[in-house]
Amino acid sequence: MKKMLANAYTLDNAETTKAFYDDWAGSYDEEVSENGYVTPKRCAEALAEFVDDPSLPILDIGCGTGISGQALKEAGFATIDGCDFSAEMLARADQKGLYRNIFNTNLEDPFPFEAGIYANLAAIGVLNPGHAPASTLDAIMSLLDPGGLFVFSLNDHALEDKTYEARLNEHVDTGSAALLFREHGPHLPQIDLGSNVYVLKKL
Ligand SMILES: C[S@@+](CC[C@H](N)C(=O)[O-])C[C@H]1O[C@@H](n2cnc3c(N)ncnc32)[C@H](O)[C@@H]1O
Repeated sequence: MKKMLANAYTLDNAETTKAFYDDWAGSYDEEVSENGYVTPKRCAEALAEFVDDPSLPILDIGCGTGISGQALKEAGFATIDGCDFSAEMLARADQKGLYRNIFNTNLEDPFPFEAGIYANLAAIGVLNPGHAPASTLDAIMSLLDPGGLFVFSLNDHALEDKTYEARLNEHVDTGSAALLFREHGPHLPQIDLGSNVYVLKKL
């Protein structure tokens, strides 16, 4: 198996990150599974606690090979679209037959979706330095209609970069969103890495 996890936290721009995931696509599922990757399940279960109708469409942002989509499905979400900028990761996601639609999108570009198309949103293991900056939170929240929910994670590396939580707090402090859930727990337990899971509600 091609082992790449140890290098995932040294990426510093979108181009190298995209090439890195294209290269990792063939062994990603096996390597993160053997390291106990549990954040997708934690996120999906946290979101399911607050969603009244899990049949409504949800967009899995940075869906990768579909591990996050699988967790959303197992938590009861029935209509899942996925987007990512790695064609190789998306090809694996497509093979799993979990997603209604799959889109190749870069989080550094404006989303090609109208606001309100998705009732709820997820970005699981995606908001990281070198992947997507804290301002991505604003772009994601602007896709939701009031009442829509956004579940996401920040791993311990992303938590060290204070810009992500600062942006989150700004949404809450200015009354554009309410924080329904925040919990620290395991992310990749075999490498002793944790993550926070958040559920934000657009107001
Ligand atoms: C750690 S993986 C998580 C994948 C999936 N959500 C999961 O939980 O297994 C991060 C994903 O984010 C994607 N990604 C990183 N930066 C991105 C960007 N700027 N635009 C779109 N996708 C991006 C990568 O291609 C990769 O598939």
